[in-house]
Amino acid sequence: MDRDMAKQRVPAPKPTAPRRSHQGVLLSGIWALAHPRTGYHGAFPYGFLERARVAIGCGEEDSVLHVCSGAVAKYPYWGFGPCDYTLDIRTDVDPDFCQDARDEWSIPPDCAFGYGGVIIDPPYDRENQERYGVAESKLPTCKQLLQNAEKALRVGGRVGILHWIVPAPVEGLIQIGVFGVIAGTNCRIRAFTVYEKRV
Ligand SMILES: C[S@@+](CC[C@H](N)C(=O)[O-])C[C@H]1O[C@@H](n2cnc3c(N)ncnc32)[C@H](O)[C@@H]1O
Repeated sequence: MDRDMAKQRVPAPKPTAPRRSHQGVLLSGIWALAHPRTGYHGAFPYGFLERARVAIGCGEEDSVLHVCSGAVAKYPYWGFGPCDYTLDIRTDVDPDFCQDARDEWSIPPDCAFGYGGVIIDPPYDRENQERYGVAESKLPTCKQLLQNAEKALRVGGRVGILHWIVPAPVEGLIQIGVFGVIAGTNCRIRAFTVYEKRV
């Protein structure tokens, strides 16, 4: 650029408000994965958990709470960490916290400031709920689950929810990403939506 042209350049306006790192959805993509391998109804597709963990910003040693966890502890590849916890209403899947996910979640002493991350995989409708032998009336809504996640997360921690819908964010959480999840052929595409707890 010559000097005359440089002089004609309009200077950038001075920012009038503090700059924020982000205001809404930033991350997106499609995860083309494969059928699940554990045999549990509704188990995560092969390749899901490692990606989900990265999307919620958690490393192997972080404490992630898996809500509506099913057989996630048996996920046969990298993704379930040694400091993770599980929460499910069914005793036979042997969760760390056997409770209704609609009630306030337990937080162990080693997570005094809250969990580093949360991954939620609820039943998506009444028909699926029945497959788990859990009363239809106990089908949790995305709103209830995200509100509980907001209370249980450390500040800056992230929660991701796998569902047929992209749930609206609740108070205290900002939506930062949404990923399409394909689990092989003849399966519905789902969305893994990620939110961050605001400071
Ligand atoms: C889609 S499955 C989760 C499967 C898991 N992602 C896996 O890879 O094995 C949904 C789970 O939600 C649990 N569930 C249903 N209603 C619940 C409730 N009200 N509170 C807690 N867990 C519930 C079921 O027992 C079931 O294990």
